[in-house]
Amino acid sequence: MPTTPPFRLNDGNTMPQLGYGVWRVSNEEAATSVVDAIKAGYRSIDTAAIYDNEEGVGKAIAASDVPRNELFITTKLWNDNRSFDGALTAFDQSLKRLRLDTVDLYLIHWPGVSGEGYVDAWRALVRLKEEGRVKSIGVSNFMPPHLQRIIDATGIVPVLNQIELHPRFQQKELRTFHAQHDIATESWGPLGQGSLVADEKLAAIGRKYGKTPAQVILRWHLDNAFIVIPKSVNPSRIRENIDVFDFALDADDMRIIEAMDDKDGRVGPDPAIFG
Ligand SMILES: NC(=O)c1ccc[n+]([C@@H]2O[C@H](COP(=O)([O-])OP(=O)(O)OC[C@H]3O[C@@H](n4cnc5c(N)ncnc54)[C@H](OP(=O)(O)O)[C@@H]3O)[C@@H](O)[C@H]2O)c1
Repeated sequence: MPTTPPFRLNDGNTMPQLGYGVWRVSNEEAATSVVDAIKAGYRSIDTAAIYDNEEGVGKAIAASDVPRNELFITTKLWNDNRSFDGALTAFDQSLKRLRLDTVDLYLIHWPGVSGEGYVDAWRALVRLKEEGRVKSIGVSNFMPPHLQRIIDATGIVPVLNQIELHPRFQQKELRTFHAQHDIATESWGPLGQGSLVADEKLAAIGRKYGKTPAQVILRWHLDNAFIVIPKSVNPSRIRENIDVFDFALDADDMRIIEAMDDKDGRVGPDPAIFG
């Protein structure tokens, strides 16, 4: 069974570099697909309050024979609770749905366009970490001004920023800011939400290694030191997506994939106008 290498975060904690995402997975599906993922070797699960499947994820965790301390559970604060008190209340509700005492990583899901709320929400996450109720805290879909503002307000740097990132949308400027501040980059939509798995250039690279385009893409994320959380509800693709630790891309492969970057390649919402 593949084991995922640990990735060190700026607060000293570690998390698996590859995990399992469950957006657009129902509670019922999550209760079985998370079990399939844990059996396949995944130890990190990425959910969110808005996914409406924390109960299913919690059920799968409770049913798993893998001890809780070997699992890394991430959930996220949704936009309607982006305030200090709202975040504390929403966190309690997420814990209850997940049937957990702590989560390993809690993220602010979107900064929002109003500029209101996310700094106070960040203060609440700092409080939750101080209280030991969450091990690490981070953000999602933040741009450099949002990141700078929460760092200036609290002195606490998020461990990671979970952002849309895949070969067709590589976010190089944002990654430079992350590197300057020791913020890890976590890729959501790592397969372009499925839009990249039929790409002929990626298929050609995969043929050299006996790997699928999806595996080539996931290897590209790992070789770039991104944390990555592909989603699938298909048991064989769940296994395929973690079977990526027995090969590495060469410099030519990396160049070919780097050239796929497209400033218009976004498949999800733009944080400048959403949330
Ligand atoms: N922070 C945020 O704002 C945010 C936004 C979006 C997503 N996320 C997180 O990131 C995770 C991953 O992103 P995502 O779900 O949007 O997209 P993704 O992982 O890039 O792609 C998922 C899609 O690709 C298909 N797929 C998966 N593995 C495949 C394979 N090996 N071959 C062919 N098709 C494959 C899946 O279909 P099947 O299920 O049928 O296999 C699904 O349609 C989410 O689940 C969520 O946890 C976060």
